[in-house]
Amino acid sequence: DGLAIGIDIGGTKVAAGVVDAGGRVVARARRDTPTRSPQAVEDLIADLVEELSAQAEVVSVGIGAAGFVDATRSTVLFSPHLAWRDEPLREAVELRVRERLGRRVGRRTLVENDANAAAWAEYRFGAGRGEPRLVCITLGTGIGGAVVQAGRLQRGRYGIAGEFGHMVLVPGGHRCECGNRGCWEQYASGNSLGRDGRELARGGSPFAHTLLAGAGGDPEAVRGQVVTQAARAGDPAAVEIVEDTGRWLGTGLANLAAALDPGTFVIGGGVSDAGDLLLGPAREEFRRTLTGRGYRPEARVVRAELGPDAGLVGAADLSRGWG
Ligand code: BGC
Ligand code: NA
Ligand code: ZN
Repeated sequence: DGLAIGIDIGGTKVAAGVVDAGGRVVARARRDTPTRSPQAVEDLIADLVEELSAQAEVVSVGIGAAGFVDATRSTVLFSPHLAWRDEPLREAVELRVRERLGRRVGRRTLVENDANAAAWAEYRFGAGRGEPRLVCITLGTGIGGAVVQAGRLQRGRYGIAGEFGHMVLVPGGHRCECGNRGCWEQYASGNSLGRDGRELARGGSPFAHTLLAGAGGDPEAVRGQVVTQAARAGDPAAVEIVEDTGRWLGTGLANLAAALDPGTFVIGGGVSDAGDLLLGPAREEFRRTLTGRGYRPEARVVRAELGPDAGLVGAADLSRGWG
């Protein structure tokens, strides 16, 4: 077993760490995601592998990436939030690491979808432990999704199963980075919280006062995190936005229950920091939209337990060769 490196590449942040076989993070590092080019991200990943492998002997490297990862778990086919198109990430990282260190690090390098990695961590060590049919939703820049069935991640035929954020919930709705309109993640993600917050703040309504203050007085600087923080501090405008977001979350969960019938939905990602302000309305909307409600068992909707570590812990664990 031993230690493994996990690296989680999100739309805005890269979180990395050394993870032991029990899912504990024993060393960590954090950077902003370079958005310029895939090569810049690959350089950064190699930096992190170099840095972390100097601190511990590791058996493998797992990379969680916010995009569509192919079935061989090496190439990022597409990413709505990063400049990756058919990018051979695994090979590029292994090459860079060998160039720098004159050796490879660990037995293997593995690339996995970031939300799949987070779901795996919640299944192994967090809120999804023991659940035979688990659906995980990661609310970050976008919405990530994953299914764990009988102890295995469901990857689909081409590696792309679980892209729930791009289910079209509102035909003709907000434009999504994936190119479509009306995707779920345009209504229940960090990005959508930010967009709703900015819209309110721009209008100059006194109702938006606290939100504006949280963004240093600049309406364009309102981000999802500003909204969740203001909501947690009790600001009524921010609370409303989070509640609306929660209802959109619940609608999507009801659709997923119709398709997948899980026992538990685990909700993670930065937006889930809003806690019951978000999950309360989500559960309510889920129950009133669930098909067959009143005549069927209902999935639990619970908050993730591993917080911002989930992606890196899951990627590290998967790289050991299970899941
Ligand atoms: C991407 C997914 C990713 C999710 C969360 C979505 O927009 O399509 O691949 O898992 O965002 O980062
Ligand atoms: Na996924
Ligand atoms: Zn989309």
